[in-house]
Amino acid sequence: MTKKGIILAGGNGTRLHPATRAMSKQLMPVHDKPMIYYPLCTLMQSGIRDILLISTPRDLPQFRQLLGDGIQWGLQISYAEQPTPRGLADAFIVGRSFIGNDNVAMVLGDNLYYGHGLHAVLHTAAQKPSGATVFAYRVSNPERYGVIVYNANNMPEDILEKPQNPPSRWAVTGLYFYDNHVVDIAKDLKPSQRNEIEITDINRIYLKQKQMDIVNLGRGYAWLDAGTHETLADATNFVRIIEQRQNIKIGCVEEIALAMKYINADQVLKIASETGMTPYADYLRDLVVSTPT
Ligand code: G1P
Repeated sequence: MTKKGIILAGGNGTRLHPATRAMSKQLMPVHDKPMIYYPLCTLMQSGIRDILLISTPRDLPQFRQLLGDGIQWGLQISYAEQPTPRGLADAFIVGRSFIGNDNVAMVLGDNLYYGHGLHAVLHTAAQKPSGATVFAYRVSNPERYGVIVYNANNMPEDILEKPQNPPSRWAVTGLYFYDNHVVDIAKDLKPSQRNEIEITDINRIYLKQKQMDIVNLGRGYAWLDAGTHETLADATNFVRIIEQRQNIKIGCVEEIALAMKYINADQVLKIASETGMTPYADYLRDLVVSTPT
C-alpha cells in the first residue's frame, strides 16, 4: 500500500525561457490553474495524502505560498530542496527521510493524466505491496522519452532512455510507483552520459528482476507533459476544450479532495470564498450543490 508521494518540480525550465527566468515552470498556468495542481490530483486519486514537493531553493517559497501544508485539502504537504537538477532518480535520495520504510509514488510536476477509469488504475498500482508499476503511452516522438523494448512475444524486455532509433512507440510516462527498495537502488546509481541519475536505470533494474508492471494507457487516456511552449499550449487547449464542453474540471484539487472524502462541503465553500469572484470559485460552489457524476 503506497501512502507517500513525491512531486518533482525542480529544474530551471530552460526550454521555457524567458517565461521561466523568474518563476517555476510548474507554477505556470495550464488553462485555469497552476500546472502543479494536475500531478497533485494524480497522487490524490491514487489515495496518497502524504506528499513531498521537491523544488529549487528559488521556487520553494512560492510553492509553499500556493499549497501550504495541504491541510485545506486534507493532505500533509512537506517540502525539500534540490539545489541542482541531478536527475529524476535524485528524488529518492533527496526524499529518503520522507520515504522512511514505506513504498512511494513519484510524479513529475509537469505531467497531466486524464481518462475514464484512471482512478481505478492508479488505485491498483498504489495497492501493490512490492515491486514497481509504471505507465506506458503511445507517442509520435518516442525519442524524447524512456522507450520500451518488446521481445518477440510482445513482452517488455528493456527500457532505453531517449534512443535515437526508438525500438517502439511506447514511452514510459512520468508517474512511478515503487516499493521501498527504490531508496537503496537510487543511492547506488551512476550518472548517465547527460550527467543525471536516470529513473530509467531504476526501472531497468525492476524490469530485469521481474518486479515491474508496465500498464499501457491506451486509447481514451490523455498523457501530456508541458515542458515546451508548444506542449504547454497543447495542455492548456486540451483542458480548456474538455472543461468548456462538459463543465467538468480537470485537475481541481478541491473536487478530488471532496470526492475522496478528504474534506467536506464546508471546507470547499471556505476555499471558494477565498478564491474571489472567479469561474473557479463558482465551480467549487456548484460542486457542493451537485457533485458531477
Ligand atoms: C524523463 C525520463 C524519461 C521519461 C520522461 C517522461 O525525461 O528520463 O524516461 O519518459 O521523463 O516525461 P526528461 O524529463 O528528463 O526529459
